[in-house]
Amino acid sequence: MRLLLGVTGGIAAYKACELVSLATKAGHEVRVVMTAAGTRFVGPTTFEALTDHPVMTDTFDDALAHISWAKWADVACIAPLSANTLGKLACGFADDALSTVFMAVPRGVPVVLAPAMNTEMWFHPVIQRNLGWLEELGRYEIIAPVDKRLACGDVGVGGLAEPAEILSAIEAASG
Ligand SMILES: Cc1cc2nc3c(=O)[nH]c(=O)nc-3n(C[C@H](O)[C@H](O)[C@H](O)COP(=O)(O)O)c2cc1C
Repeated sequence: MRLLLGVTGGIAAYKACELVSLATKAGHEVRVVMTAAGTRFVGPTTFEALTDHPVMTDTFDDALAHISWAKWADVACIAPLSANTLGKLACGFADDALSTVFMAVPRGVPVVLAPAMNTEMWFHPVIQRNLGWLEELGRYEIIAPVDKRLACGDVGVGGLAEPAEILSAIEAASG
């Protein structure tokens, strides 16, 4: 399976390393595209070492890579998905490498989304509205965040689902 993984700027970005590690150990090929905020949490070098492939962080570094990477994927996933990028997906923005690549993912390719954020952000009406818009599209499989003690100290819904669970969902989605 060829997995295109998007990593956004959330505290759970470190768990994306475990997801990539699990995926590669299971024999899958992985390519990672990160937002600028994502790179503030985990350096691209870590993902380059885990995937043995360059990480995309800027659409303009390689003119048509956003199309070729999207076409390369058997399945795509964003984990963790930030509140910000969730809103961008819901509204159709493609203003960075990650949102542009994910806009270009071909129609038959499954896309799994694993949001993670503070509980109050998760329950904010605009996030819930954006989530509803994404669900209505029928284009995405959404793995709900879990109820736990979050990095900020709050206890509630918003934690990233466990990497093994996300990988199972990705494998199931890819058929
Ligand atoms: C320490 C720290 C932790 C953060 N954790 C999250 C998070 O878990 N989820 C989230 O949606 N935003 C989180 N943010 C805010 C995002 O980094 C910010 O909204 C950013 O603009 C997201 O950009 P992106 O969607 O392009 O990655 C956090 C910010 C900081 C400084």
